[in-house]
Parts: sequence; structure tokens; C-alpha cells
Amino acid sequence: MEIYNQIQPLKNHLAKIKTENKRIGFVPTMGALHKGHITLINKSVAETDITVASIFVNPNQFNNISDLNKYPRTLDADIQMLLEAGCSIVFVPEVSEMYPVPDTRTFQFGILDEVMEGKFRPGHFNGVAQIVSKLFDIVEPDYAYFGEKDFQQLAVIKKMVTDYMPYLKTTIIGCPIVRESDGLAMSSRNMRLNPEQRNRAGFISEILLKAKEMAKNNSVVQVKEFVITSITTDAHFSLEYFEIVNTETFLPVDKFTFNRNIIACIAVIIGDIRLIDNITF
Ligand code: PAJ
Repeated sequence: MEIYNQIQPLKNHLAKIKTENKRIGFVPTMGALHKGHITLINKSVAETDITVASIFVNPNQFNNISDLNKYPRTLDADIQMLLEAGCSIVFVPEVSEMYPVPDTRTFQFGILDEVMEGKFRPGHFNGVAQIVSKLFDIVEPDYAYFGEKDFQQLAVIKKMVTDYMPYLKTTIIGCPIVRESDGLAMSSRNMRLNPEQRNRAGFISEILLKAKEMAKNNSVVQVKEFVITSITTDAHFSLEYFEIVNTETFLPVDKFTFNRNIIACIAVIIGDIRLIDNITF
């Protein structure tokens, strides 16, 4: 496995690989890797010839400075996990390498920027698009892998490629959420939960599963009320949002019709740690 810190040597190396007609898979990450990230690597290793991973805690996508400062960094363990998973190349740039000058580009994502993550984390998706577009221009992957844990981010990336990078030949692939044994969606931020918070955090996915079950014979209003009450009456949690939306339009649904694509998305704060999860109905 080769490790690059700089753009140009990585591009030179990839250019050689491309002349050999090898398919390149790309998995962008912010490190503090867990099994969720590794399933993306596994899929890329299985489907392509060369897997490139990036590890970069992107300051431009954090709208909360303390969240950025507290973001876990475990580079040595990350590199070991990538090596064991069969990753070929890791790109670990410094902030100055990715942003030699401030990135002032603004992307328009319409409703995606106005609801749920877009609404509660202003500027977040613009920062994600800034870094992922730069990374895509460097790697020019054939396939890029993203987790459905960040379902809205996956939609943003697809829209970014369609609307802003039509010259790219990259296919964006969504991968299922990987969970802990109690159902908690794996996240780098889980490392920051204390034992009591960690113990309670499994409740989030439990509630989503119950909501899915309830949706079979209850109205949208009833299901929303159930989830909102369950979370807000538990002193461990503060609820940022719970929404039931169409997977394509991201508009709220008002009826459960099971031939429609419906997803329930939640953001919960435990202590000062913000966790998101979702479930398709
Ligand atoms: P990060 O949170 O490190 O996640 C990297 C990728 O792993 C994302 O595509 C995310 O959806 C996926 N992932 C995280 N937890 C997962 C889980 N439990 N199951 C399945 N996939 C999971 O998302 C980012 O980084 C950044 O925004 C990034 C795209 C790298 C841009 O900076």
C-alpha cells in the first residue's frame, strides 16, 4: 500500500495506472476508521483493480469549531485497517495541500440544502462538495463509494457530479449502513460517547425500527409523534430533527404508500455528540 501526502505525485502515479486500463475505485473518508468505512473499501477492492482511500478531516464542512477540534484522529490504526482490507493507495494530505488558497466556490443543491442536514448544518454540504470535487478531480475514479448512513450526503454527491462535473466518468455507489450489535449505526463520533451514553445510543436505531413497524398501520403524524415523544422524553437525548421524506425528492411524505420510496431520518444529540441515522420504509 502506498501513502501519498501530496497531490502531484499521486496524480503522476494514477496516470501510469490509467494507461494500463485499470479500473480505479475511490473511498473518501475523514479517518477514525471503523467497519462501516471498511465495507466501502471491501466493495471497491472486490469491484475494481486499484482502490484509493483518502483520509482528510475537512475543516470546510464543519460548521462547529469544537466538533472539528474534537473529531477523532487515529491515523496509524486507520492505515493498518486499510492495509488489511487490501487498499492500494492512501491519500493523506495536509489542509494546506487541499486549500492552498481559500475555496470560495458555492454549490447550489436546492432542497437538499434546505432540509434536515442541510437546514441544521448550514454550509456543511457546500464544504463537502468543495473537498469531494477536488478529490474527484485528483483521483478521477471510475467508481466512488459512499455510505447510506449519510443518505443526504450521497444524494448531494450525485447531484454535484451531474450538475457541476459532467466531464467526470465516475459512477457513485451507495453502500448499506453498518451497525454495532445493538443496532447503533457505526460512526467515528461513537468513540466520543462515554459508557452510559454509548449504552443508551442503541435506542436511536431501536426507535427507527419501531417506527418502520408502526408505519404498517399508523399515519405519518402518529409515527412522527411516537418517535419525537420517545426521544424527547429521554433525558440523554436532545432531538434535532426527525423527518419522513421521499428518497428522491426529499420532500416530506404525508401518507405511507408502500410503492413509494420513503426514508425516515433522524439527528440526535447526546451530550455534545451529534449522531445521525436513517431507515427506509
Ligand atoms: P466519513 O464520516 O469519514 O465517512 C466516510 C464514508 O463512510 C461516507 O461515505 C460515510 O457515509 C461512510 N460511512 C460512515 N459510517 C458508515 C456506516 N456505519 N455504514 C456505512 N457507511 C458508513 O462522510 C465523510 O467522511 C465526509 O463527509 C467525506 C465524504 C469524506 C468528505 O469529507
